[in-house]
Amino acid sequence: MGEELHSRKRDHIRICLEKDVEFKKKTTWLEYVELIHNPLPEVDFEEIRIEAEFLGRRFDYPLIIEGMTGGLPEGYSINKNLAEAALELNIPVGVGSQRAGIYNESLRSTYRIMRDISPSIFIIGNIGATQLVREGVELAEKAVEMIEADALAIHVNSLQELVQPKGTTTFKGVMKAIEKVVERLSVPVIVKEVGCGIPKETGRSLEAIGVKAIDVAGAGGTNWTLIEKIRAEESGEMEKKLLGEIFLEWGIPTAASILEISSTVEIEVVGSGGIRTGLDIAKILALGAEMAGMAKPLLRPALESKEAILDYLKKVFLELRAAMYLTGCRNIDELKNTGKILVGPLLEWCRQRGLRI
Ligand SMILES: Cc1cc2nc3c(=O)[nH]c(=O)nc-3n(C[C@H](O)[C@H](O)[C@H](O)COP(=O)(O)O)c2cc1C
Repeated sequence: MGEELHSRKRDHIRICLEKDVEFKKKTTWLEYVELIHNPLPEVDFEEIRIEAEFLGRRFDYPLIIEGMTGGLPEGYSINKNLAEAALELNIPVGVGSQRAGIYNESLRSTYRIMRDISPSIFIIGNIGATQLVREGVELAEKAVEMIEADALAIHVNSLQELVQPKGTTTFKGVMKAIEKVVERLSVPVIVKEVGCGIPKETGRSLEAIGVKAIDVAGAGGTNWTLIEKIRAEESGEMEKKLLGEIFLEWGIPTAASILEISSTVEIEVVGSGGIRTGLDIAKILALGAEMAGMAKPLLRPALESKEAILDYLKKVFLELRAAMYLTGCRNIDELKNTGKILVGPLLEWCRQRGLRI
């Protein structure tokens, strides 16, 4: 199992770096959100503040570096660079699925390095929902303990597992398994998708069992069906490859998923899946998310250095400030209440789904 997991994680990084693995037809639908231009903004660009609050902690920027790796040697330096950047920026950072580290002690340092950088970084642990179903709540406890996590993300990835060679499709009992984790852990639990989004019905159920945040990871960014389809093709598993092809564009676009959750439940929302610019972040906060989440754009910089990550994010935060300046918002609270217009399929989605907008 260890070797298999190892090479899968390595494939993911390689394919993300070598191929275009974004959704091709479906987008985030953020292009159907217009923020209203304010030609007389009563604000100086320099006074714009972008601090944000999430899960009871104050962060300097409304962005989470989403969990990507750990469990293989090259994960060590990626996670080290990500954690150093997160420390410098005072933003949360996630590790990738911790299963490999739970079963193989020699791989633990590839996750633990994040905590070793500093006790003050807000680190989000990561475990798969199907693993919880099979292996129980102790798995979640071990994941938190391994990195002294400040929160635990449980990833739900039914389509990825379906297309993945040797994927695990035993989801029955998943809600109960998550509930047990919420009851047992002393840190908040986040439930996250990986690119198919989360609808309001699921949001309500998760709120009812005490989940503290939902990370939508909607469609429009990194496409895990495509990545697994490529892996299936490479390993000659034609049935999986063909299945992947049919469901390549499956999923709730990020903008729609944020509205599904933010208009229905009180728990905090992370807007992720295809967030690529500061303008994207401005739009998702205006749609009701507390934080944005970004994964793949940070992978290449993370292979390089902390400085490369900081350079990339400097540009993103400048764009966010620019969007706030142009809408006359001095801080994130004002941005959340700024005027916006929804058009096209996004508006139609909201109408048919009865979402309050
Ligand atoms: C190389 C890579 C590895 C990832 N591994 C994990 C993982 O182990 N666990 C998880 O919950 N999500 C994982 N993700 C998914 C991301 O956290 C995120 O939800 C998804 O890629 C959508 O965001 P993006 O469009 O900004 O990449 C990974 C993403 C990338 C790019």
